[in-house]
Amino acid sequence: MKLRFTKIAIFLAALVPLERLVWKALHDGLGANPIEFITHSTGDWTLILVLATLSVTPLRRFTRQYWLIGVRRMIGLFAFFYGTLHFLTYIWLDKFFDIHEMWKDIAKRPFITVGFSALVLMIPLAVTSTAWSIRRLGGKNWQRLHRLIYLTGILGVVHYAWLVKADLRKPIEYGFLLSILLLYRVGAWASERRKSTVMPAPARGRAEVNKV
Ligand code: HEM
Repeated sequence: MKLRFTKIAIFLAALVPLERLVWKALHDGLGANPIEFITHSTGDWTLILVLATLSVTPLRRFTRQYWLIGVRRMIGLFAFFYGTLHFLTYIWLDKFFDIHEMWKDIAKRPFITVGFSALVLMIPLAVTSTAWSIRRLGGKNWQRLHRLIYLTGILGVVHYAWLVKADLRKPIEYGFLLSILLLYRVGAWASERRKSTVMPAPARGRAEVNKV
């Protein structure tokens, strides 16, 4: 019951940035450069949601609210959703679907290349986010693949830090949070490894995937 309500609340909350954009678009509220406004807003929310996805496991452990794992997939999929909107804003409103122009930009402007790589890495994660994929890949392989989310986070922060011209405060804040999450994960892996050298791990299934 708690999980169901939390899922509904997160679903509705995650749609607020999109609703805000639509509202502003309909009421002339996107400022002098609407494309820039939409690009910045969707980029911000992609990164926030990537970091939120990564925060679920430590939060769940520290608060002992183990049911929280049930919301991780939804937050991750919303990160991908906003990442896709961010990309669509760029390719549609900025480049008018000129693929040639887009490839030129990707090759010429390193921050675009990095952002593009971050988004591409999210595709296999979104595609394999189902219970069926966990069964198909096996818990361990699935976990290995889904560690790519850390790389997406790192590339997202680099992308942001690279594009800002003067005020680095926000990318530094995101980078700081990401470093804490990475440190937590490295610590968790180290203790898992220690345990598995003392006692060989059994084959991992979905329950095991949810633990890490
Ligand atoms: C195909 C992929 C991507 C493209 C083409 C792209 C492109 C851009 C562009 C053109 C900007 C605005 C630059 C400026 O105003 O000077 C931007 C901003 C941004 N992007 Fe991306 N991006 C991509 C993927 C991503 C991903 C995957 C993330 C997050 C993980 C991300 C996070 C951000 C952030 C945080 C900003 C700045 C927002 C702000 O100023 O508040 N981008 N991106």
